[in-house]
Amino acid sequence: MELSFILLLLICAIIAPRASPLQAKDLGYSSTDLTSDETLLNLFHSWAANHDKPYLTSPETKSTKFGVFKDNLNHIISANKKRKSHWLGLNAFADMTHDEFKRNYLGLNLQKYSDDKASATFMYENATNLPTWIDWRKKGAVTPVKNQGGCGSCWAFSAVAAMEGINQIVTGNLSSLSEQELIDCDIIFNEGCSGGTMDYAFAFIATIGGLRTEQDYPYTMEDGSCQQTMASSFGSEVKRVSISGYEDVPKNSEASLLKALAHQPVSIAIEGSDRDLQFYKGGVFEGPCGTELDHGVTAVGYGMTFNGQEYILVKNSWGAEWGEGGFIRMRRNTGKVEGLCGMYKMASYPTKNKP
Ligand SMILES: *[C@@H]1O[C@H](CO)[C@@H](O)[C@H](O)[C@H]1NC(C)=O
Ligand SMILES: *[C@@H]1O[C@H](CO)[C@@H](O)[C@H](O)[C@H]1NC(C)=O
Repeated sequence: MELSFILLLLICAIIAPRASPLQAKDLGYSSTDLTSDETLLNLFHSWAANHDKPYLTSPETKSTKFGVFKDNLNHIISANKKRKSHWLGLNAFADMTHDEFKRNYLGLNLQKYSDDKASATFMYENATNLPTWIDWRKKGAVTPVKNQGGCGSCWAFSAVAAMEGINQIVTGNLSSLSEQELIDCDIIFNEGCSGGTMDYAFAFIATIGGLRTEQDYPYTMEDGSCQQTMASSFGSEVKRVSISGYEDVPKNSEASLLKALAHQPVSIAIEGSDRDLQFYKGGVFEGPCGTELDHGVTAVGYGMTFNGQEYILVKNSWGAEWGEGGFIRMRRNTGKVEGLCGMYKMASYPTKNKP
């Protein structure tokens, strides 16, 4: 008994990775950058150069932006001092006030949404023998991380990533699909850069007979006019990837989300407007965040770290520099029924029949 306990400790000590590797290159700053106003200004200059910020030539803008940058850096430093299981770093959003960030990088719009329309069936309700972890990236069902830019189109990216997943699972082909087609054409219930919801997007895609590819209908980061409406008016030369419909995951149920995720990537909604999320760099995110949903993302797996932190793996649409290559691990099994940041409140996935 005692011996096996010691053995277990030893094994853990060998396997467990070292404590959070908070390295300067990961975080974008080091303690020497903080020693004086001059070193801070140097840090700001090199950050701006790395992020193609043209405003360094205008002294006025530069001074405003430097102020915002310092304020953000202070937030990052004080959050990292708390030594949670996640850490923050300087990224492309470092010159944006939190309000500016919230106005531009979210886009879940619930004004026309009501969840009494939630689907009655949940095809995975009786799923058993779920794997202990799953990562759809490793199964080739996840395209490279995209960037919504300054447009409230998260809902389109969330829906498209879930669609790319089910399409690969059913057909074996991973195709990057068009968010822009949704932004331009799915305009009855959804509102392009002013926001939308994933369920309306799935319903729209099922109705028009599928979505065009990213290459065919590329992202412009702004509302545009629809280049076509019905698939039939273009004949067979336009490649479209279809879905049959969608289902909602029973809300506020981690167990249900895991059942669905064991079978395919799932669109989820979170409260994304928390300042720690703006600068999340790595680790298992544990808040703080509320549950007022305002951002759509896609769950693409789940698992547990070596030291026992359970998480949902999530693909975001804020570029690959943000977080862990554009992904975030969000703490699960927290005891909160809506899930961290409300992530179990509004989950859904597209369905697709075998051809
Ligand atoms: C799950 O099992 C119950 C009881 O056997 C059955 O009534 C229900 O239809 C099943 N659900 C699905 C989606 O197959
Ligand atoms: C997969 O993609 C290739 C190339 O686009 C295509 O020729 C093939 O028919 C696709 N397979 C399926 C099952 O859709």
